[in-house]
Amino acid sequence: MAFSTTKFISQATRAIKRQVGDGIALCATSGGVDSMVCAFLAHRALEGNLIALFIDDGLMREGETKTVSRILRRHGIRTAVAPAAKDFFKALKGKTDPEDMRKAFRDIFYKTLGRAVRKFRATYLIQGTIAADIKETKGKIKSQHNVLAQIGISPKKYGLSIIEPLVKLYKPGVRKVGKALGLPEDIHQRMPFPGPGLATRVVGEVTPARVKIVRKATVIVEKEMKRFKPFQTFAVLLHDRATGIKKGKRIFGNIIVIRSVESKDALTATPTKVPFTVLDRIQKKIYRDIPQVTKVLYDLSPKPPSTIEYI
Ligand code: XMP
Repeated sequence: MAFSTTKFISQATRAIKRQVGDGIALCATSGGVDSMVCAFLAHRALEGNLIALFIDDGLMREGETKTVSRILRRHGIRTAVAPAAKDFFKALKGKTDPEDMRKAFRDIFYKTLGRAVRKFRATYLIQGTIAADIKETKGKIKSQHNVLAQIGISPKKYGLSIIEPLVKLYKPGVRKVGKALGLPEDIHQRMPFPGPGLATRVVGEVTPARVKIVRKATVIVEKEMKRFKPFQTFAVLLHDRATGIKKGKRIFGNIIVIRSVESKDALTATPTKVPFTVLDRIQKKIYRDIPQVTKVLYDLSPKPPSTIEYI
């Protein structure tokens, strides 16, 4: 039977309302499709009893804090921004192993969330976990930061009851629900963006300076690749460095990877067939705007054996 968004929305809003009652719920919105759809859905159920919390972790894309909070507020959603970049960088300092990074991110994320929960006296946390997150964590492919039970985090420890209304849906279903909920098209059709943000695209230590490089490169890659409507496209900063020449001088600089993939549900993916002229334009802009970069590469890896992100 075809998936009915109307039926899903009415059932999900009723369930959220029943569970939360007159309580206060928080929904941490990263600006990604899943958490935005979740916030809109929960807002329909709870109105003023829902607070969308944007944790400014210093790992977001350019301008994201403003853009996301503006969209939420424009739709009448109570929105709070928690400035926490310093705490996140402190937690990630010195970490280079992907799973250590994910764990450090998770711990500081839930600590920050815990603080907001106490501040707003919230008793419920609405999360945008989707079916693919569960599947990947179960398969031990990687630990997604938002699958609490599976990664051994007790919500009780954080003083929360968890509600995951999208847990049975895959990405296409989530987008359909988002459209039906009246989200702006550039939000429900938005590329997925991972919870741990640009930290998944910095191989090696995540420092403010290194995130700044990948953020700048991401602006260029997203802008040039937009017209192909890829499932996901972004820039990655590698840990390795390479020799190059900038302003007539040899430097041992950074390596940026352009990543773009086609996929339905993020469980498998193939690289986008990008015309060489476009790749060439991207490399020129990256060299021009980011002085530290000496090499730009295009990633040809499908998933499997690769994954979409780099950590
Ligand atoms: P991978 O890298 O495993 O990613 O091929 C599959 C999809 O999941 C996104 N992703 C995440 N999303 N929390 C999230 O909310 C995470 O920790 C996380 N890690 C990866 C990734 O962007 C891709 O769409």
